[in-house]
Order: sequence, then structure tokens, then C-alpha cells
Amino acid sequence: MSTACPSRLDREIDELAAISAHPAPAVTRVLFSPEDLAAREWLAGKAREAGFQLRQDPVGNLFIRWEGSEPCLPAVATGSHTDAIPNAGKYDGVVGVLGGLEAMRQLKEAGHLPRHSLELIMFTSEEPTRFGIGCLGSRLMAGTITAGEAQALRDPDGRSLDELRAAAGCGGDLGAVKVSTGAYKAFIELHIEQGPLLEERGIDIGVVEKIAAPSAFRLLLKGSGGHAGAVLMPDRRDAFLAAAEIALLVEQAALESGSKDTVGTTGLVEVKPGAINSIPCDVKMEVDFRDTDQEARDRALAKIGQGARAVCKRRGVEIDWQVINQDPPALCERSLVALAEDKAAAAGFSHDRMVSRAYHDSLFMARFCPTTMIFIPCHKGYSHRPDEFSSPHAIAKGVAVLKECLKELSR
Ligand code: GLV
Ligand code: MN
Ligand code: MN
Repeated sequence: MSTACPSRLDREIDELAAISAHPAPAVTRVLFSPEDLAAREWLAGKAREAGFQLRQDPVGNLFIRWEGSEPCLPAVATGSHTDAIPNAGKYDGVVGVLGGLEAMRQLKEAGHLPRHSLELIMFTSEEPTRFGIGCLGSRLMAGTITAGEAQALRDPDGRSLDELRAAAGCGGDLGAVKVSTGAYKAFIELHIEQGPLLEERGIDIGVVEKIAAPSAFRLLLKGSGGHAGAVLMPDRRDAFLAAAEIALLVEQAALESGSKDTVGTTGLVEVKPGAINSIPCDVKMEVDFRDTDQEARDRALAKIGQGARAVCKRRGVEIDWQVINQDPPALCERSLVALAEDKAAAAGFSHDRMVSRAYHDSLFMARFCPTTMIFIPCHKGYSHRPDEFSSPHAIAKGVAVLKECLKELSR
């Protein structure tokens, strides 16, 4: 198995990174933005050039297919996402999409004849930036979110998913995105680790056994506005101060959950009216809260809920608690974990099993098909920031392991 750097892959990663709403080294590609649409077009061109077939479902999940000699057999799939949060780096998701394309191309060039079709899936909106909910495409594929729930989504400008997908050329019934169990024999997602462990321990390949349980909620807080000079402190119902206390409760609940894997982030706070001399009357805040241990996470969430209500009562602030998602963790398929380990070992790569603390489309693929993930090291674990970096050598090793897995599974 060669670990030589596939230079066309490195070039393509750079080409795709240039399709961004923010200048390099930042990458920003929000769902159905001009950059997301341009990236989709660019990827479709690469797939056609390689001689693969293309299909898009009603939510815009893109399926790049290499038909096997027995097309009725369940397909073997890989893939990830190309959307990127504001000021992201160029590897998150992209390594899985372009690395998957590279693995399929290398197999084709080497004369592999798949019996099971091979499919590379570029999932729509793994990132929650536009609609607040992550893994929209794979959630719909798994049926974890219904077509009606997806139709009710609105972006910060009040635009609906239906409006945006129609403008992006994705038609049809969202209910048709759901995939039946048995459609896929296996799904393997290649991804950068987004944590520091592989690099710190000098390990080439992480094979994912479990994906942590993500949750997110939105709080709409309503207090009372007024003049910053004229309203005395005891008379105030400041929505932002309630939000600030709740953000600290989130931190405290994560620190005291009893599970080292509990993490809580208040990543978005919008304060209105947003003037220095006006008391905040309305706040929207969104909180991301995760754990590998679902029970510990849900206990902590309940504690935050109780605490937040008490804070708001004391401050005379109304609270509307909206659950965005509260997903269970996913367990990876043992035989696929073993397969990836075997392929890494056969190539002479060091490897270890690990947990994914980030979520991925694999979390939802695992609901209806055997799934695992291959992780590669990234510099200092940096991710969701412009200086995210994985070396061409590290990426090539991940692609090599993925390729061997796809080869064996599609025989
Ligand atoms: C995915 O981007 C995540 O936030 O885990
Ligand atoms: Mn991400
Ligand atoms: Mn990702």
C-alpha cells in the first residue's frame, strides 16, 4: 500500500478552499450560499471527470456513484461534508469528501472491479450554521427529522429550507430523502480528528468506536428595555444579565456532570436592542451541550433547565426554551472497526480506537447502516478555525486505509 502523497488530492483541497466567503486561510461555505453552490458544482465536475455517476436528492445530498457489477446489491459508501462554518479551516469534512473521491479514483485506475456499487456522499449541511441544526442531510436520510420538521426550519433571515433548496435547484418531496435500512452495506467516513490525541501520541490512524451524543438548545429571553441612565438597578429586568447567568450555569453543569466528556458551549448570543445606552430587553442564545454518556448529559441538561428557570424568575425575565436537537450517541459497527484496524496494520500504520467527541454525518448513517470512521491527526487538534491543518502525508495514510476498506467491502 503506497503512502506517497497523491498530489492531485492536495491540489484539490486547495482549489476547494479557495471557494470561500472569507479570504484564505479562512474558509466559510454556508449551506446554499453562492460558495456552497459553487463548491457543489466544482465537486460534480471532478466526479464527472473521473467517470462516476451523479444524483442529487431533494435536500441536496450529492451521491457520486461507481456502479458495481451487481447494482442490486447494497452499496458501500463513504463521504462527509463540504460546508464550512464561518472562519473555518480547509480540512473539516473536505478530507472525507475529496479523500473518498481520491480513494475511488485510485481503485478505478488500479483496475478494481467492484461487485457492490461504491458511493461517495456529500451530505447537505453537516454544519448547523444556517438552520441551527447540524447534519440536516444525514438526519433526513435516517428519518431522524421528518420532512415537516425540516420544512418548518427558518434561517436567521426568515428564509425556509424549501425556498432555499428550490433556489439551489433541489426539487422534490423531502420525505423521499429517507433511505431504507439495507440500502447500504457499510458507511466509512474519513475525517480529521479535530482533537489533539493522535498527534500527541504519534498515532497515524484513529478508528472510531463511538460518537458522542450532541444536543443543542435555543433560549429566547424577554425582559424589559429602557434608558441606561434613567432606570435604577432594582427596577431592571435585563435579559442579557439572565443570559450571562445561564451561560455560567452551562459551564458549571458541564464541569460538575461527573463525566469528563461533558462539554457545554454558549456559542451564540444576540442582544437587542444592541445599543450601549439601552437596557437589553431581548436575548437569543444558543447552547451546544454534549457527552459520550447520554445519561450524564441529560442529567446536566435538566439541571441547566431548572437553574435557568430560577434565574429568570428572580430577574423577572420570560424564558422560552427550544430544543434544537438531543441525539443519542452512536456505536460503530465492530466488524468495520476491525476491518479498518486490519487495513491500517497491514499498511504498517500505527492505530488506536477512539471516541469522536465531534458529531458527524456518521452519527445518523449509523442509525440505518453499519458505520465507522477513520480519523487522521490534525495539528494541535485545531479545528473550526482557519489554522486547522493536516499534513498531506497524514491525509494520504487515511485515504490509503479508506481505499483498502472500500476495496474489500465492494468485492
Ligand atoms: C461538527 O461540526 C461538530 O460541531 O461536531
Ligand atoms: Mn465542523
Ligand atoms: Mn466535519
